Amino acid sequence: MTLATADPFAWIDAAAETRQRAGLVRTLRPRPADSGLLDLASNDYLGLTLDPRVTDAAAEAARRWGGGATGSRLVTGTTELHAELERELAEFCGAEAALVFSSGYTANLAALTALTGPEALIVSDALNHASLIDGCRLSRARIARAAHKDPGAFRAELASRSETRAIAVSDSVFSVDGDAAPLAELAAACRDHGAALVVDDAHGLGVLGAGGSGAVAAAGLAGAPDVVTTVTLSKSLASQGGAVLGPRRVIEHLVQAARTFIFDTGLAPAAAGAALGALRVLRAEPERADRAREVAHLLADALRAEGFESSEPDAAVVSVRAPSPETAVAWAAEVRALGLGVGCFRPPSVPDRFSRLRLTARGDLTDDQISWAVSLLSRTAPEGARRDG
Ligand SMILES: Cc1ncc(COP(=O)(O)O)c(C=O)c1O
Repeated sequence: MTLATADPFAWIDAAAETRQRAGLVRTLRPRPADSGLLDLASNDYLGLTLDPRVTDAAAEAARRWGGGATGSRLVTGTTELHAELERELAEFCGAEAALVFSSGYTANLAALTALTGPEALIVSDALNHASLIDGCRLSRARIARAAHKDPGAFRAELASRSETRAIAVSDSVFSVDGDAAPLAELAAACRDHGAALVVDDAHGLGVLGAGGSGAVAAAGLAGAPDVVTTVTLSKSLASQGGAVLGPRRVIEHLVQAARTFIFDTGLAPAAAGAALGALRVLRAEPERADRAREVAHLLADALRAEGFESSEPDAAVVSVRAPSPETAVAWAAEVRALGLGVGCFRPPSVPDRFSRLRLTARGDLTDDQISWAVSLLSRTAPEGARRDG
């Protein structure tokens, strides 16, 4: 008897049907260059993606260095521009050294795999980003899941381990609700138990810390010998790519050992140029970071005043609860049709069973734009979206 069926992908249709019934189908919507929408859906936290200083830097880098990096970093893919970006990023965040990757995803895989191994323990926050979870899976280390933002839970796992080597890993700002991790307490737990701390500051860089220098700097941990930070260049820095920042010996080790560094083509020069351009804008205009945090509070307060369940923003992400996946999708579609772009998070991308709209508190939003967005969300809210039902 054989278990083979004629159609090896028949199971895909069954999975699609289940997804459809649960209201969880995801759709690609190619956006035009000028959508006319007020964008509260992207991760362009500082509103720099179309800033001419950023786009000119990208264009200039492409003209000078080419359309691609031409090879992996250890062969031909490290240009002087990559080295310049690494120096300036490290200096901006107060780290000894930095290493640029083709994405934040590959930076996270690099940090978690190259700093651990079968003989190590990784303690990971229960709500960490998918790229950290995948890094844990690839690491071959033993993984302990710690309760969300609970330094005591991290401490207990580190204290009771049999492995000599250990790291703790956490997002600095969690991407769904925009809540911040207790980094200073996590670092203290690590120090007490001879572990290193790895922080994914994808949503903190450019928003938290003095002038947007990030959550690690804000927690007083910049330059710490036992803390490693990963970032993406694709949010506040308005580009594409990622980086690992930390002690020089850690960065040098990643060059030798991180497979997503060694076996991946270097970051495209245009992306390196754009990130460097955005970093220089942020250095010249540090108030952009303060404004992003202010916008987040204005948005969250206005939404609560309208009766919605809104998260308390620690950075530039504000989420609003929706009654169900279907109403969340319909709500997002309705405001989109009326000129407002918002994100929509549903299971399985949420930490609980609640679907949400996710709003980006861009630092370039005006007070009038914030009021307009909140009044539109209020007018179109589905039944059950407000606290009083
Ligand atoms: C917390 C977090 N870490 C890592 C990443 C991955 O970064 P990238 O998009 O540069 O691969 C993201 C999302 O993009 C993220 O939200």
